[in-house]
Amino acid sequence: MDKIQQVQEEALAAIAEATDLESLNQVRIQYLGKKGSIQELMSEMKSLPKEEKPAFGSKVNVCKQEVSTALEHKQSELESQSLFANLEKEKIDITLEETKLQIGTSHPLVMIQQEIENLFVGMGYTIAEGPEVEEDYYNFELANIPKDHPARDMQDTFYIDPNTLLRTHTTAMQMRELEKAKGKAPIKLICPGKVYRRDDDDATHSHQFMQSEGLVVAENITLADLKGTLEHMANTMFGNGRTIRFRPSYFPFTEPSVEVDVSCPFCNGKGCSVCKGSGWIEILGAGMVHPHVLEMNGFDPEKYSGFAFGVGLERVAMLKYGIDDIRNFYLNDKRFLQNFNRFD
Ligand code: DAH
Repeated sequence: MDKIQQVQEEALAAIAEATDLESLNQVRIQYLGKKGSIQELMSEMKSLPKEEKPAFGSKVNVCKQEVSTALEHKQSELESQSLFANLEKEKIDITLEETKLQIGTSHPLVMIQQEIENLFVGMGYTIAEGPEVEEDYYNFELANIPKDHPARDMQDTFYIDPNTLLRTHTTAMQMRELEKAKGKAPIKLICPGKVYRRDDDDATHSHQFMQSEGLVVAENITLADLKGTLEHMANTMFGNGRTIRFRPSYFPFTEPSVEVDVSCPFCNGKGCSVCKGSGWIEILGAGMVHPHVLEMNGFDPEKYSGFAFGVGLERVAMLKYGIDDIRNFYLNDKRFLQNFNRFD
């Protein structure tokens, strides 16, 4: 009986000490296997006197039961340990350090161009586009500026050859569109784009800048239509309450010609440093399409009339955003461009 007790204690100790499934299995074989210690005890029963057999037998059974249960517990403990160890070992770090996305911004000139386009498309205008490398014919000739015309001095031109140049104004597109219409009205379009002039760059001059041309031709178009249209534009671009005024001017392709001023959006027309005390700021040139221009392009000036205007986009952007140096638009300094980030 002592031996049974001893085997049981040894077995339970060995089970407690087992550190992995393999060594636990060795313990199982050693005690519960066919040739194991507990089986050996069973076979010893044969040699016992008959009356001792039941007590001995039941003690061996209890021993076997205890050892089996301990083995089972230990087995599931070691199994879950090894499962956790494997999970730990196979763990994948799925986190990723955040990289802050740099969201680009629309260029302020693009924003102004889009604003102008939206405004005029909303009034039923179409948008025309054309070449920056232009023929002298469209840039000057059809715009009523013949070769010997003194008005050519007004614009210093980058010539590619005697008949090809970088367009000096989007008015070239006005001529292309008039010619394309073959005398058929109505025409209602704007044409935004780049233009080029030989200029020494400084805070207010750039050899390349942007304009948008506007052109309307139909029957009974008057200067009042031009004024209403530009007033609407001034209110949309510079805020409600703007008024505009016309000053007589001269352009070879319009008659009459006007310079257009907008009431100063900074002081509401009272006079400040931006408008130099006058209460007005010049924003564009405009006029009624010259009858000769209409005629050269195949329109009957007795039947049709039209207005046109040319607005400088940098000028509008500078006024609207308080930018004091035109070169900022072209330096691409991110610190400048970031000011126009609509997502910040
Ligand atoms: N082409 C002129 C310029 O570049 C602007 C201009 C004035 C355009 C009057 C027009 C106009 O269409 O009618 O200075």
